[in-house]
Amino acid sequence: MSLTRRQTLSLIGGGTILAATAAGAGFVSTRTPTRALQPWQQAGRYDDVRLNALSFALLAPNPHNLQPWQVALEGDDALLLHRDPTRHLPETDPFDRQITIGLGCFLEQMVLAAGAAGYAVDLTLFPQGPDGPVAHAVFGAGGAADPLAAHILARRSCKEPFEDKAVPAPLARQLEAYADIYTDAPSVQALTSLTWDAWLVEAMTPRTMQESVDLMRFGKAEINANPDGIDLGGPFLESLMLLGVVSRKVQADPASTGFKQGIELYRAMLQATPAYAVLTSPTNTRTDQIDAGRRWLRLNLAVTGLGLSLHPVSQALQEYPEMADHYATAHNLLAPQGHTVQMLGRLGYGPSRAPSPRWPLETKLIDRT
Ligand SMILES: Cc1cc2nc3c(=O)[nH]c(=O)nc-3n(C[C@H](O)[C@H](O)[C@H](O)COP(=O)(O)O)c2cc1C
Repeated sequence: MSLTRRQTLSLIGGGTILAATAAGAGFVSTRTPTRALQPWQQAGRYDDVRLNALSFALLAPNPHNLQPWQVALEGDDALLLHRDPTRHLPETDPFDRQITIGLGCFLEQMVLAAGAAGYAVDLTLFPQGPDGPVAHAVFGAGGAADPLAAHILARRSCKEPFEDKAVPAPLARQLEAYADIYTDAPSVQALTSLTWDAWLVEAMTPRTMQESVDLMRFGKAEINANPDGIDLGGPFLESLMLLGVVSRKVQADPASTGFKQGIELYRAMLQATPAYAVLTSPTNTRTDQIDAGRRWLRLNLAVTGLGLSLHPVSQALQEYPEMADHYATAHNLLAPQGHTVQMLGRLGYGPSRAPSPRWPLETKLIDRT
C-alpha cells in the first residue's frame, strides 16, 4: 500500500504533517534508503558478461518484490537459475504461479541485457523438469541489441493514481503487439470494479492481509536491512510513522483509522485508471508462466518507452477460496475461451516514481548446481 505525499496531505490535513516535515529538515534530506537502491547504480558495472546481464535482470518486476532468484555460475559461459525455495507467498500465490512469472521477467531482462552487450543467450527452461532449476543459460557471442533494453533502468511498477487522460489509440495499438489492451469504457468500468472488489477481499481476509503486512518495511533502516517486500519509505511516510499514523500494527488492524484511510487511498488509486493490459495463455504450465513473465517485462519496457505507466493489479487472479468468485469473473471477462489470465495491469499516465529496493547481486549467487 503506497501513500504518496499529495494524497495523504489531502486525506488527513496538511497542517500537522507539514509541521512534522518542516521540523526535521535534516531528517527529510537523509531518508533515502541509498544502500537498498545501490543495485540500480551497480547495474552494468561487472566484467563478466553473465554478471553484467544478471545485474540488470535483478531489477525486474516480481511479486511483492520478493526477488525469488538464485543463480549458480557454471564454467566460463553458463549459469543455472534456481527459484529460492524460501521466497514464496503461500496465502495469495499458493501454486507459485506469480513467483514463476517474476522469474520469467528476470530471464527476459537478462536476455535483453546480454543482447545489448553483444551476447546471445541459449536458454533451456526447466532442464530437469518443472520442479528443478528454472533455466539453464549459455552465453555466446552474437546477440542483437533490442531497443526495449534502453528502458530497463527507467521501468517501474507505478503504484499511483493515473492522470485523467485517455491512452491515445495509436499508442494502444502499438501495445497490442505485447498484450490485450482494454480502453473502452464498459471494459474499463468492469475491470475497475473487479480490481477494487478483489483488493477488498485480500485486505479483509486476515491471513492474506497479514502476508502483505509481514512483508512491509517501515522506513529507511528496515528497507536497507531488508531491501525487498513492500517498502514504505521516504520523508513523508516516515513523518507519518513518527506520528503513529502508519505502523505495522495499524496496517494489520481493519478497525484502525490508518487502515481505513489506506483503503480509501487504494480505492482512489484504482479508480484513476483509463486502460488495462492483460496477458493470457491457452494452458497454464510452468513454461507458460515463464513466458507470461517474459511478455510482461517486454510490455512494461514498451510502456515505459511510450511515456506511459503500468501497474499490475493481481488480486482477482489469485487462487484461494475467498477469491474464487472474482477469479471466475476475471476469467469470464478476459479469457472466455478457457485460457488462464496470467497478468492484469492498470495502464495510463502516472507520475514518475523512485526505483524500488533490491538485494545486491552478490547475495543471489550460490554454489548449488
Ligand atoms: C506476477 C506479478 C504480480 C504483481 N502483482 C502486483 C499487485 O497485485 N499489486 C502491486 O502493487 N504490484 C504488483 N506487482 C509489482 C511488484 O510489486 C513490483 O514489480 C515490485 O515491487 C518491484 O517494483 P518495480 O516493478 O517498480 O521494480 C506484481 C509483479 C509481478 C511480476
